[in-house]
Amino acid sequence: MASVNHIAKLLRPSTIAVIGAAREPNKIGHQVLRNILEAGFPEDKVYPINPKANEVLGLKCYSSVKEIPGDVDLAVVAVPAKVVPQVLRDCAEKGVKAVAIITSGFKEVGNVEAELELVRIANKGGFRILGPNIVGICDTVKGINASFCQGLPLPGDVAFITQSGALAIALVGWTRLKNIGLSDLVSIGNKADIDETDLIEFFGSDPHTKVIIAYLEGISNGRRFMEVAKKVSVKKPIIILKAGKAERTISAIKSHTGSLAGSDIAYDAAFKQSGVLRAKTFLDLFDWGIALSKLPLPSGDNVVIITNGGGAGVVATDFSEEYNLKLMDVPPDLAEKFRKYMPPFGSVFNPIDLTGMATEDWYKGAILEALKDDRVHSVIVLYCHTAVTDPRKIGEAVLQAKKEANVNKPIVVSLIGGTECAEECSRLIENGVPCYESPEKAVSALGALYSYKRGIERIKSVRIPKVSIREDVARRIISKALEEGRTALTPRESAELAKAYGIPVLEKPLARSLEEAIDIAEKIGYPIALEVESPQIIHKTEVGGIVLNVNSKEELKAEYVRMLENVKSKLPEAKIEGVIVRKMAERGKEVLIGMSRDPIFGPLIAFGSGGIMVELIKDVTFRVAPLSLEDVEEMVRETKAYNLLKGFRGEPESDIDVVKDVILRVSKMAEDIEEIKELDINPFFVYEKGKGGLAIDIKVILKGQN
Ligand code: ACO
Repeated sequence: MASVNHIAKLLRPSTIAVIGAAREPNKIGHQVLRNILEAGFPEDKVYPINPKANEVLGLKCYSSVKEIPGDVDLAVVAVPAKVVPQVLRDCAEKGVKAVAIITSGFKEVGNVEAELELVRIANKGGFRILGPNIVGICDTVKGINASFCQGLPLPGDVAFITQSGALAIALVGWTRLKNIGLSDLVSIGNKADIDETDLIEFFGSDPHTKVIIAYLEGISNGRRFMEVAKKVSVKKPIIILKAGKAERTISAIKSHTGSLAGSDIAYDAAFKQSGVLRAKTFLDLFDWGIALSKLPLPSGDNVVIITNGGGAGVVATDFSEEYNLKLMDVPPDLAEKFRKYMPPFGSVFNPIDLTGMATEDWYKGAILEALKDDRVHSVIVLYCHTAVTDPRKIGEAVLQAKKEANVNKPIVVSLIGGTECAEECSRLIENGVPCYESPEKAVSALGALYSYKRGIERIKSVRIPKVSIREDVARRIISKALEEGRTALTPRESAELAKAYGIPVLEKPLARSLEEAIDIAEKIGYPIALEVESPQIIHKTEVGGIVLNVNSKEELKAEYVRMLENVKSKLPEAKIEGVIVRKMAERGKEVLIGMSRDPIFGPLIAFGSGGIMVELIKDVTFRVAPLSLEDVEEMVRETKAYNLLKGFRGEPESDIDVVKDVILRVSKMAEDIEEIKELDINPFFVYEKGKGGLAIDIKVILKGQN
C-alpha cells in the first residue's frame, strides 16, 4: 500500500540523485540531469551518479548514491537494465525514499522475473518504485522536471497520469500550445510497484490538484481502485481514458506493457459506480479536464445556448441531447430581455440566436441576462468568426459579462474560426473560462461537468441494503459438490442454494422411482414437468433430460420411461439420482439475473431480458458487486426489459421489486461465496405487481479446486 508520504517524496522531492548521469548530451541520463537543472531545481540538491565521470554539467559526480553526504528523497535511474538491481540495492543502503526507473527492458519485453526482483529489493529497502519503463516525472508545483520530456508543462491544477511515456512527451508541447496547465505529469510505465490508484490517492488529497486525468491501458487492482476512486471522486473529478476495447488492441497492450486488460464491460461498470468519468478520446481528457478544473458545479439543469450562427446552435442542440444536457424553455420575460440584443429576425428560443449581425455588445448583454437569471443554471456561448466582429472582442465580452454578473455559474465558450479564434480561446482559458474550437467540444465539456455532478450525488446517496440469508446452508451445498470433485451444481442443488439466499424458486421434489413420481404428481396436480437429476448433466435439454407440460398419469408413465432411456443412451456414464417432478410454473415476463467474475474487478452482476431473448437482443447491463440500491435501480431502468416490466402496450405492471430484490441477493451471494464462478438464473419469471416471481432455471458453476 503506497503511503501518500512516499509519493510526496517521489513527486515533490527536496533532493534528487540522477543515477546514470551520462557525459554525452544525447544520452537520456544526461538529459534528465539537464532538465532538472534547467527547471530551476537548486544545484546543491542534485547529485549526479556516474562511476566513470568526475563531473557532469558542472556538478561533482559520485560513483554511487551511498557516497552522497545528505539524504536523498528521489533517485532517477537511467542505467541499462542489467545494472538496475545493483543500483537499487545501493539506494536501499542509502535510505533513498523513492526511485523512478526510466530504464526499459523488463516486463514489457517478458523479463517478468527481473522486474519482480526490483520490487523485492524496494520492499526490503523500504522505498517505492515508479516504473520501470517511464519517461519520468514533471511537477510544476516545485518546478521539477525529472524526465526526458522537453521542458515542463505550464503550471496548473490538472494532474495527468499516463501509462504511455511517448504520449507524455508529446502532450507536454501540446498542452503548452493550448494553454493547459498541469500540476504534475507522471509516467507510470510498467507499474511494478506504484500504480494509478496510489497516484489517484495522492492527488486526491493534494491541494495543488483540482482534477485528475489519466490515460490507462489497464488497472492493476480493480477492487482497490474502486474503493479509492469513490473516496476521491466526491472531492475532485477523475477522468480516465481507458484504452483497449478492441480485441486487436488488447493483444497490443499485452505486448506493450504486459498489463492485463479486464473486460471492457467491467471497466464501464466500475467507472460508473466510482464516479469516474470515462473519456472517449485523448482530447476529451483535456477538454473535460479544463472545464472541470475551472467551473463550479451547476445548481440546476437549465442550460442556455447563445450563438451568432444557426448551424453552430443546431449542432450544439444535437450534442446536448447526447450528453444529457437540458436546454431550458426560455420563459417569456427572459425572452423579452434577450430580444434587446438581436435584430427582429433573431431567435429567443433556446439556442438564443443573436444572428450573424451580433456585436460584442449584444453578446455581452445576452450573456449577462443569462448569468443574472436564477432560472438559468449554465451557459454555452458559441461564436462563428464573421467579418463584422472580432473574436478578441467577443472573448472580452464574455469576460466582462462574467465579471459584471459576479455569479458562480458554469459558462463554456466555443470560438469557431482561424488563428484569431484559437488565440482568443487560449486567452479565455488563461482567464478561467473553458474555451473550445467547436460547439461539440463545448457541449461535451459541460456534459462532463453534469455527469460528474450526477455521479457524485449518486455516490453520496448510496445505500447498501441488508439481505437476510442462510450462508451455512449455501456453504454446505457448495462444499459437498467440491468434495465430490464437481464444478457444476445439479438443478436441485442450485435451487437449494438460491433458496438459502432467499430467492424464490420453483420447488423441485425428487422422485427415485416411477411410483414416487406418480405420487408427487397427484399431490401437486397436473400439468407437471419432469427433469432429470444427475451431477453429470448440466445441460438437460441437450440430452433430452427435461419434459414440459405432462398432463396426465398416462403421459407421465410414458414420458418418464422415454426420458430416462433418452438420457441413458446419450450419456450412459451419467449417474442418475432421480427425476424431479415439478409444477408447470405459470408463465411470467422472462428476465435474466446472473453473475460472473471479472479478473480485475471481481463479481460482475448482470440483469436483462431473459429466455431466448438473451442471445437475440443482448439486452444486458452489468455492475460490480457489492451493489447499492441505486446500482440496482439504475440497472433495471437502463434495460429494454424495464419497458416490458413496466407494462408494455397496456399490459399490467410486473413485480419490479422482486427483480431488484433478487439482483441484490445474487450480489450478496457473489460477495459471500468466492467459490461460485458463474451463476445464471434464466428465465426468472416475473409476475404481476405484488405477486412476486420465480427462478425457473438456475445454473451454478464453481471454481475448480487447484
Ligand atoms: N551507476 C551510475 N551510472 C552508471 C552505472 C552505475 N552503476 N553504470 C554505468 N553508469 C553510467 C554509464 O557509465 C553511462 O555514463 P557515460 O556515458 O558517461 O559513461 C550512463 O550510466 C548511461 O549508461 P549507458 O550504458 O551509456 O546507457 P544508455 O544511456 O545508452 O542507456 C537507458 C540507458 C537510457 C536507461 C537505456 O537502457 C534504456 O532503457 N532506454 C530506454 C528508456 C525509455 O525509453 N524508457 C521508457 C520511456 S516510455 C516511451 O515510450 C518513450
